[in-house]
Amino acid sequence: MQVTVLGATGRTGLHVVRLLAARGYSVRAGLRSRHRAELLRGLPVEPVLADVTADPGDLVEAFKNSDVVISAVGAPDPEPESVNLVDRDGAIAAVRAAERAGVPRYLQLSAQFADAPDQGDRLVRSILFAKQISDSVLRKSALNWTIVRPSTLTDGPGTGRVKAARHLEPGRISRADVAAVLVGALAEPLTENRGFDVVSGDFPVAAALATLD
Ligand SMILES: NC(=O)c1ccc[n+]([C@@H]2O[C@H](COP(=O)([O-])OP(=O)(O)OC[C@H]3O[C@@H](n4cnc5c(N)ncnc54)[C@H](OP(=O)(O)O)[C@@H]3O)[C@@H](O)[C@H]2O)c1
Repeated sequence: MQVTVLGATGRTGLHVVRLLAARGYSVRAGLRSRHRAELLRGLPVEPVLADVTADPGDLVEAFKNSDVVISAVGAPDPEPESVNLVDRDGAIAAVRAAERAGVPRYLQLSAQFADAPDQGDRLVRSILFAKQISDSVLRKSALNWTIVRPSTLTDGPGTGRVKAARHLEPGRISRADVAAVLVGALAEPLTENRGFDVVSGDFPVAAALATLD
């Protein structure tokens, strides 16, 4: 299975590409720029330029022959202008490009409360509103979609144990565990055409995904 990861050199994206490669997926690693390509050195992945704010035609090229796109993209700074450019417009451009490239399945790393931004933390509200719009475009797209909404991310070690459900109380979850959820979702049909919250928890990832409500 060919999987293209957007934001592959991000803190979560890097966990995603490592895990995909370890599990034997064929991985294309989407880079915003070549500057951070060295982070992928030694990994059996194919780097490809994929800036969601650049020419959408380049994204279509980057997605060609992909069975799945996983987007782990996030704006580099929290200013509304940057957030709207990347988390809203860029994320929408990537969904449209996946449709044009004929990609069947699309997984988006979103955020808890992106489906109800007014209930989220005031400090990240512009991000939540931007993600609400792009998540909604993905849900209404022709793609088989999955939207993963983690609570606050940490750089702690992966535990392999999470809690997943349509809605959860806020918590924390490591980026490594979020990556395990994204990769685990590829093998769990219950995640198809579904959005759900994830936090750190007691269940192995596969079991948590297999009991989604
Ligand atoms: N922080 C939290 O507590 C929290 C909670 C819930 C959800 N989230 C969401 O989880 C996601 C991942 O978070 P993270 O901490 O792993 O993010 P991160 O380390 O900042 O990584 C973001 C990735 O997006 C890439 N990117 C930025 N602009 C891009 C563009 N125009 N085109 C293509 N790629 C672009 C970055 O590229 P470079 O590597 O070149 O910089 C980087 O690889 C984000 O969407 C974030 O909003 C975060």
